[in-house]
Amino acid sequence: MKYSAQKGTRDILPQEIYRWHKAEQMFAQVCHSYGYEEIRIPTFEQTDLFQRSVGDTSDVVTKEMYTFEDKGGRSVTLRPEGTAGVVRSFIENGMTSLATPVRLFYNITAFRYEKMQKGRYREFHQFGLEAFGAEGPGIDAEIISIVDVYFKRMGLKNIKLCINSIGCPVCRAEYNKILKDYFRPHISELCEDCQERFEKNPLRMIDCKIDGEKELVRNAPRLIDYLCDDCRAHFEGLKSQLESLGIEYSIDPNIVRGLDYYTRTVFEFVSENVGTQGTICGGGRYDGLVGSMEGPQTPGIGFAMGAERFLLEAEAQNVLPDKPRYVRIYLCAQSPEAKTRVGRLCYELRLRGVGCEQDLADRSFRAQLKYAGKQNIPYLAVIGDDELATGEVKIKSMEDGTETAVKIENLVDFCAENI
Ligand code: HAM
Repeated sequence: MKYSAQKGTRDILPQEIYRWHKAEQMFAQVCHSYGYEEIRIPTFEQTDLFQRSVGDTSDVVTKEMYTFEDKGGRSVTLRPEGTAGVVRSFIENGMTSLATPVRLFYNITAFRYEKMQKGRYREFHQFGLEAFGAEGPGIDAEIISIVDVYFKRMGLKNIKLCINSIGCPVCRAEYNKILKDYFRPHISELCEDCQERFEKNPLRMIDCKIDGEKELVRNAPRLIDYLCDDCRAHFEGLKSQLESLGIEYSIDPNIVRGLDYYTRTVFEFVSENVGTQGTICGGGRYDGLVGSMEGPQTPGIGFAMGAERFLLEAEAQNVLPDKPRYVRIYLCAQSPEAKTRVGRLCYELRLRGVGCEQDLADRSFRAQLKYAGKQNIPYLAVIGDDELATGEVKIKSMEDGTETAVKIENLVDFCAENI
């Protein structure tokens, strides 16, 4: 039987992993530069955690979760996103009593049973962060600027930032009434999901994957026009902070986000490049979530970036580095005695942190040279009986052909300092 990777999952092979390392390291670096610290959360949680937080009117919960019963009869779910787990951890580990804002970032796999296409997978990765305890728009501007700085430091251009405000429970309740009045005469024209959303969470109708493009939905009243004074002031505050940072944005009243926990600020960073899946990063504020998960009432905000989508974009813009050459030198042995010496030298080089290789496949001398060339190893040293007799070896740069004579006893020091 021939096995293949499950639909919607993919192997990340050595020829691309270094790009992931670059993206991950830069994300951690940028987060650290803002005072965010890394958190690692479990891959699965009790199902109810996601139902309550992500929300049982979201597509993620109703259609896309990998939920199963474990051998102890508990219903568990592979995390479809990171926020719910981080909020659970924040409450469970007493972080609610830390000085605010509590700033956490993460790099996780997430699982959603979705229709596979370019930039959309069933197992995917998110670089994300959450900040707890800050109510004013300063933190909204901060996390948006993190994405902006990250893109800039990676060399990425032309990613559009779209922001919106979806208000608080007070203005949302008012708006829901208006929206329901608008849709009521047309309810039979809408899809089954929207008919259900009409009852449970009318805001969700705005970004329906089936009805979202219909005139009727496009022309629906927009929450941003019905914000209460506090939410309006908050949104104005964010706008002016972004302007003072020089971060360009546009307001997109149709962004409502696919998860139920959001309040006030929501935002997305969008590219045209990534197939049909242009949203590289999405996030927003969730001021009621910690309270609704039985923690103390604490405002929160965060985002998650689809790592695969980010890398597709970075590849399209050609900003990713070349593959690093971790192995710096190939030590080619020409005789059995030399082979023993080479083995010891390689061990000592590695103790000093210098990447090196030797033949372990009984290749002929010529085949060893060919192998080293094929592997694109930048330096080569040949050790045979002559070198053992004179105690001297030549280190050859494969880039410009120059050779440097070094005493074998000094080879490790020389390589550690120079190659
Ligand atoms: P989300 O919009 O569901 O938000 O996902 C964030 C990002 O993850 C998307 O913009 C996209 O780049 C990527 N993504 C989502 N689904 C897939 C998929 N099937 N395949 C590949 N990439 C995907 C959240 O997950 C929220 N937890 C973000 C957040 C954090 N909000 C506040 N804090």
